[in-house]
Amino acid sequence: MKPHSQSPSLLFVCLGNICRSPLAEGAFRSEAERLGVEVMLDSAGIGGWHIGEPPDVRAQAVALKHGVEIGGLRGRQIAPRDFLEFDRIFAMDHENIRDLKALRPGNATARLSLLMDCVPGKEGRVIPDPYYGGPREFEQTWQAVSEAARCWFTSRG
Ligand code: 4NP
Repeated sequence: MKPHSQSPSLLFVCLGNICRSPLAEGAFRSEAERLGVEVMLDSAGIGGWHIGEPPDVRAQAVALKHGVEIGGLRGRQIAPRDFLEFDRIFAMDHENIRDLKALRPGNATARLSLLMDCVPGKEGRVIPDPYYGGPREFEQTWQAVSEAARCWFTSRG
């Protein structure tokens, strides 16, 4: 178990780690900086197709439109140790949750939940994959992850 004095560590997980989870990481980092709060943030994908790649250019564009640079992030795949190293793992949809539960080691300590569970009144909602969408879908993704970030830092739940 980690000492309580350590800053909370949050891992955002989606399928590819190039659209939703890097946007979530960017939105949470931006909110943490705005508030002057220390948190450990990272993101990962269920699949390994985009290991080492920067976020999708459309994700980078929507983040930048809102003043957040995510171009330095690189894709990686979830690993069993993540369930021991992070306090919280936030998934984007129910498929992510199902896949994460299948990968979760028996001694996992991380609390697993949907990202939108952070938002009062939006518990259980998913953040749909914008990969086959356009700018509108990426904007909706940004709005969802930003709302989750604002709500999480308000309640630290
Ligand atoms: P993400 O979107 O899970 O939000 O990063 C996806 C990006 C790529 C793929 C799937 C989902 N893919 O299959 O390559």
